[in-house]
Amino acid sequence: MEHSGTLESLAQELRVFRPLPQLVIEANVNPQELESFRRQAANDPQGYWEEAADELDWYKKWDQVLDESNAPFYRWFPGARCNIVYNALDRHIETANKNKLALIWEGEPGDSRKYTYYELYREVNRFANALRTLGVGKGDRVIIYMPPLPEAVIAMLATAKIGAIHSLVFAGFSAKALRGRIRDVKAKLVITADGFYRNGQIIRLKQTVDEALVGACADCVDSMVVVHRAKVDTDMLDGRDFWYDDLVRRERPESPTEVMDANDTLFLLHTSGTTGAPKIVSHCHGGYMVGVHRTLNHVFDIKPTDIFWCTADLGWVTGHSAVLYGPLLAGTTTLLYEGHPNYPQADRMWHIVSKYGVTIFYTAPTLIRMLMRFGPQYPRQHDLSTLRLLGSVGEPIGPETWLWFYRHIGRGECPLLDTWWQTETGMFMISPLPISLLKPGSVTKPLPGVEVDIVDREGNSVPPGVGGLLVITKPWPAMMTGYFNDTGGDKGDETSGDKSGEKGVEGERFREAFSRFPGKYLAGDVAKRDEDGYLWIQGRADDVLNIAGHRLGTAEMENAFRSHPAVAEAAIIGVPDKIKGEAAKAFIILIQDAQPSDDLILDLKHHMRKELGPVAVIKSIEFRTTLPRTRSGKILRRVLKAEELGEAPGDLSMLDDTE
Ligand code: PRX
Repeated sequence: MEHSGTLESLAQELRVFRPLPQLVIEANVNPQELESFRRQAANDPQGYWEEAADELDWYKKWDQVLDESNAPFYRWFPGARCNIVYNALDRHIETANKNKLALIWEGEPGDSRKYTYYELYREVNRFANALRTLGVGKGDRVIIYMPPLPEAVIAMLATAKIGAIHSLVFAGFSAKALRGRIRDVKAKLVITADGFYRNGQIIRLKQTVDEALVGACADCVDSMVVVHRAKVDTDMLDGRDFWYDDLVRRERPESPTEVMDANDTLFLLHTSGTTGAPKIVSHCHGGYMVGVHRTLNHVFDIKPTDIFWCTADLGWVTGHSAVLYGPLLAGTTTLLYEGHPNYPQADRMWHIVSKYGVTIFYTAPTLIRMLMRFGPQYPRQHDLSTLRLLGSVGEPIGPETWLWFYRHIGRGECPLLDTWWQTETGMFMISPLPISLLKPGSVTKPLPGVEVDIVDREGNSVPPGVGGLLVITKPWPAMMTGYFNDTGGDKGDETSGDKSGEKGVEGERFREAFSRFPGKYLAGDVAKRDEDGYLWIQGRADDVLNIAGHRLGTAEMENAFRSHPAVAEAAIIGVPDKIKGEAAKAFIILIQDAQPSDDLILDLKHHMRKELGPVAVIKSIEFRTTLPRTRSGKILRRVLKAEELGEAPGDLSMLDDTE
């Protein structure tokens, strides 16, 4: 949640930035075309998305654009047959893109690898054959627990190519969290690396997977593929573990692409929800590729000479749509960097931009806030003149960070495209185009074909200037197709792999997202609209924290604390943080025999790291003897939060209605 200081400045932000005339002339979508797309999409949304689908290749076209008969379980392009990898890779081999760079990769030590579309295609085919040799096939789940390496991209594409389902786990998650995720999706195979470079050190990764595959999970997967990146001593289990290089060396560089139903699952991704264990969002081949292709092309105005750098990790939805699938569907060159943004010093990002001539730089506000601290002299040392577009995603950027990014990185000339979307939406939903008028801190307007509203608790639209809940009022093609294993109810403690919680009805959690206001998807964010119809996102409305753009549920973190022997009860709230946007503060009740101490605080922080991984940063811990609760016993986090921020609890009632 954004703190009130930021909300104040958002309310007063009146500056407007116009694109340079040359940029408007050269844009793929000019202002008249944008207007006409908006009109077409408003009058005939299915016709609009059908045209977008026609830009891609299908083995068989759809019987219908959208089947709404079982809403909210919408089905886009039913009857169609396709494979996203055909569109992201195979079809480029028949065009001039064949010899164009698909992927530029830079390792933290400064090593670099480049793949043309043809080279990537052949690598993907080899690994697709290797996966088939290992017995992986259509519908099987593959966990990819990897640092940003070319092999992670190859693994994702090869998995999708053979019709299997990839599920990425960010390498910042612990062995225990990984184990929960492997079990959740009943994975057949794990793909990982021996280790990788981060901030000048080698992080060993394979051994974390070994730690995950113990005890009841010893036989969870049939096999493990290990990429030899860090060249560290690695224990390999005979018959289960295979080196990536040994597998692909034996395989041919040709491999058939599986013909999929448009609604067959492409990937699963865990994401934090309002209650209980993380949800497992599922996306399909057909609608997802249509939505991602259209919106990425519109927002980032892809040109044949672009070098597109989205700094997200592949393990988040941004990595899926904006590092891998979006750029490759568009036939552009995507860039991947292995390491830490400040290694060896605070100009690494700018060094990479100038070294490869990056033209589009898409990142998260937390990274900009981190680099701002070091001052503009770092970007100034580098030639950033190739940049033509900037992008932001993941959390509210706020005017101050927006202006710094715009001026010091974008020379005051590059449009800064603040894109609002989610794991569930798959594609960009609310965003300017390069031709749009920009207001620092506003995500501007929904893209053509996307309809949103801001409503009060009863579901009535609120007037301009008033905050409310963001809802999406029409289905969109890249919408999640459901949650994996969605039988509703509380699924128990995900981190312990406990799935003994009560069972509900099939599709219940998915239905919940559309049930508060029937037919409308509740995004979980608070937003407001100004007099010009521009949207301002203010943060999450629920018990989800956004730490450095990473979504974490308070429930997951509290469960992790409760498994510490000294802890009787725990409550987590988000507090403002200058760099991360939001950070977690824990209120802890100790068991009777335990005493508060600095050592215990350190131990508790260490415990969280072990349970969930370094991604779950705890800023501070406060010991309490009681916690505010509702009559039914639920902890009132909003009261804790109001106390912490020195606000009246009543002010926050809108922001938390789970009690
Ligand atoms: O709160 C919003 C915030 O990130 C949430 C979605 O998180 P996740 O599913 O992890 O996907 C992040 C990347 C697509 C949203 O509910 N969010 C995302 N983009 C923005 C944003 N908040 C403000 N401005 C944005 N541009």
